[in-house]
Amino acid sequence: MVNKINTRCDLMLFGALGDLAQRKLFPALYQLERANLLADGSRVLAIARTEADTETVRQQLFDKLKQHVKPEEFDAELAKSFLKRVDYQILDFNEPDAFGVLNEWRDDANNELIVYMATPPSMYGVIARNLRSASCCTEKTRVVVEKPIGHDLESSKVINDELGEVYNENQLFRIDHYLGKETVQNLIALRFANNLFASQWDQNHISHVEITVAESVGIEGRWGYFDKAGQIRDMIQNHLLQLLCLIAMDPPSDLSADSIRDEKVKVLKALKQITPDMMDSYVVRGQYTAGTSNGKPVPGYLEEEGANKGSATETFVALKAEIDNWRWSGVPFYIRTGKRLPEKLSQIIIHFKPAPHYIFDPDQKHLANNKLIIRLQPDEGMALKILTKDQGLDKGMRLRQGPLELTFSETFATDRIPDAYERLLWEVMKGNQYLFVRRDEVEFAWRWVDQVIQNWKDSGEPPKRYAAGTWGPVASIAMITRDGRSWYEDV
Ligand code: BG6
Repeated sequence: MVNKINTRCDLMLFGALGDLAQRKLFPALYQLERANLLADGSRVLAIARTEADTETVRQQLFDKLKQHVKPEEFDAELAKSFLKRVDYQILDFNEPDAFGVLNEWRDDANNELIVYMATPPSMYGVIARNLRSASCCTEKTRVVVEKPIGHDLESSKVINDELGEVYNENQLFRIDHYLGKETVQNLIALRFANNLFASQWDQNHISHVEITVAESVGIEGRWGYFDKAGQIRDMIQNHLLQLLCLIAMDPPSDLSADSIRDEKVKVLKALKQITPDMMDSYVVRGQYTAGTSNGKPVPGYLEEEGANKGSATETFVALKAEIDNWRWSGVPFYIRTGKRLPEKLSQIIIHFKPAPHYIFDPDQKHLANNKLIIRLQPDEGMALKILTKDQGLDKGMRLRQGPLELTFSETFATDRIPDAYERLLWEVMKGNQYLFVRRDEVEFAWRWVDQVIQNWKDSGEPPKRYAAGTWGPVASIAMITRDGRSWYEDV
């Protein structure tokens, strides 16, 4: 059972009228209220540049909650009582003198203070400095920032330095919302609570690993942002490398934030550089053209609203990552992620090596490796593919592959799976950093991704085309086929 925290907290939310705040953060806070987890007296100051008064903003937030909370979880009375905790403050983020007003809102300086910057990262430093000059923060203030932390290693260092000038690392909560997903945290439980897997988790027993994070949506009106980032910065630098770390890291000595983060950093440091001569066989980048999505025709990336027709930004990346350490030597991690793929699906497949000596029908040898399938979304669960004897007199010792299946929504049907942001906000309130990304993680991830981007730039090659609604360029299939393998197809 989760216990309410008793400490009252004041949450200052910069960018409170933006998409993230309205779609994710307020619904998450509402869910914490619904679970009776917010301490009495905890309050939220919604801060933005738009002229409005508190009542108007509360009404707007009410409408958005209604839109974004599942109907069966929405209670209008509860939403209204939650919104009484929320006040609105118009603020020019660039104006140091304006920040004094934030202190006036706080009625007890002893309340915990959480500052959430749901703003473009270019504003983090300015907001941090202005909060400091208005004496709006102490050494206990917790500060939450969103990705992207920069667009390469150098720019991420600038942002981290600016934040570091004002806050200590133990005050900074860098969000990667994948770490807030229940099933992603489950990777830690799966690996370190089950000795069965621990003894099999290395190059002696695993042949390769697949990580797929596929989305059926396109750019969703975010062309301006996305075109500067591309799929490698938007998804691989953060979410996919975090998943890779959780699969590949050594067991931490405990569940503390730094024990886990130290192990993740070791993996990022051990990622093998992808040099220019490796690019053709290790990396595929793609861009979608017109096609179909969920049975409807959809435009190509270059025909989306606001598109620059000459853009060479990738909407798909498949790559082969290798980890230069004892545990993973010789075990490729095939990673792919893209927009406008056939469905929304995130899954990890651990392919185990076959038994050392095979005694069954030679034509079934291809079945002989066990697979652990970890489904992160949408149908959260796990399946361990094992081999059994096919039943029947006529089958002899023919083999059959079947799953040991755990589908969370069936086995634990009464449990509600919280949204990532509920968990993350809750952990910030408790001051627990283990689901947040430390500065060195961000920087080592950029270091690895930067060299791939540089290789792309140097080669001048355009991305390969794929039709919306397909699994990416054929070259991504060729990449894995060359190694005698294929993408897991049971999707
Ligand atoms: C975000 C990316 O971080 O993650 C988006 O910026 C992407 O482009 C989203 O769509 C995917 O998150 P989820 O939780 O829907 O898998």
